[in-house]
Amino acid sequence: MQTLVFKIDASKDVAAQVDRCAAIIKAGGTVAFPTETVYGLGANAFDAAAVAKIFAAKKRPADDPLIVHVSGIGMVDGLVKPGAMDARARALVQAFWPGPLTVVLQKSSRVPSIVTSGLDTVAVRMPSHPVAMAFIDRAGVPIAAPSANLFERPSPTKASHVLVDLDGRIDAVIDGGDATIGVESTIIDMTRGRPLLLRPGGITVEQIEAVVGPVDIHPSIKDKQYKGPMLSPGMKARHYAPDGSLVLVEGTGERVIQAIEKLAAAALKDGKRVAILSCTADIAVAGAISHRIGRDQEQIAHHLYEAFREMNDRHVDVIFTECTTEDGLGLAIMNRLRKAAERIVHA
Ligand code: TXA
Ligand code: MG
Repeated sequence: MQTLVFKIDASKDVAAQVDRCAAIIKAGGTVAFPTETVYGLGANAFDAAAVAKIFAAKKRPADDPLIVHVSGIGMVDGLVKPGAMDARARALVQAFWPGPLTVVLQKSSRVPSIVTSGLDTVAVRMPSHPVAMAFIDRAGVPIAAPSANLFERPSPTKASHVLVDLDGRIDAVIDGGDATIGVESTIIDMTRGRPLLLRPGGITVEQIEAVVGPVDIHPSIKDKQYKGPMLSPGMKARHYAPDGSLVLVEGTGERVIQAIEKLAAAALKDGKRVAILSCTADIAVAGAISHRIGRDQEQIAHHLYEAFREMNDRHVDVIFTECTTEDGLGLAIMNRLRKAAERIVHA
């Protein structure tokens, strides 16, 4: 199929520009669209055949459930069980919607099981990106959308990233410029006693705790070796990864830099194409590509997946990466780095 590209002119009426893509959704097609976190690949959440096209286009396994996107609080009613949105969940969405927060709630029987991979819960979020909002609003239905990348590749933060992975496999892409945050939404399960963080993201644990009190953090978020129950198979280990093998060097200060310099030199000696991704300072080793992802957590999150994709374009064999602290957005950044890592070294 031919993938149509619609470039948004933000100075003009956005709703009118997304009309054709909304029509594609209503007709059972697939459209990639920008959100404030990453680009999503959308289909009508109530149309099982349309949602099946998402899984096929991405080569995504059927046991990895999708997030359903809404443009108004009224849309949530059709997705969840009556009463599922309790006082705490309501407080959270009032505080953070529209925005990068996904809440897991008991699902209504109207949501086809392909969307939730057979789980009796559904993940829902209201994105804050004006193009996403206008697009869902015009479509008039909730839109199921995972990140618009091929399975296991880094999430796309630009329309060009979507096309690299999915050109010819989806009906259309709405090009609304760069996704601002750069890492996916925070996912919080509100179906149990205490809220449970399933994926750190654009809204921080600190922000959530300020609204609903203590939050449990799923052990798999910090521990790559975690082998216990997953709640969602989509939380499985390797994810978001560049083609080359990523080696994450954990630790602090000078020791990390020295370890990276040593490891990079050894890999170069083996004839590998080597890159170093850094956060705190430029780490230069003769013969290796040196790339500073960003200077603060906002910048690092914004440029992380772009950096992975750039390493793919440059055919890098091995990438050495340093860490950031785990406060604020850092928890999401470190979670993605650990998931992408083939190996974790302690300096
Ligand atoms: O920022 C985002 O959340 C982006 C944009 C497009 O909104 N979407 C995104 O979707 O990151 P995706 O498919 O890449 O990640 C969805 C993850 C699944 O892998 C799974 O871990 C979790 O959401 N999930 C979905 N439904 C769930 C459920 N009912 N219970 C637990 N986890 C669920
Ligand atoms: Mg994804």
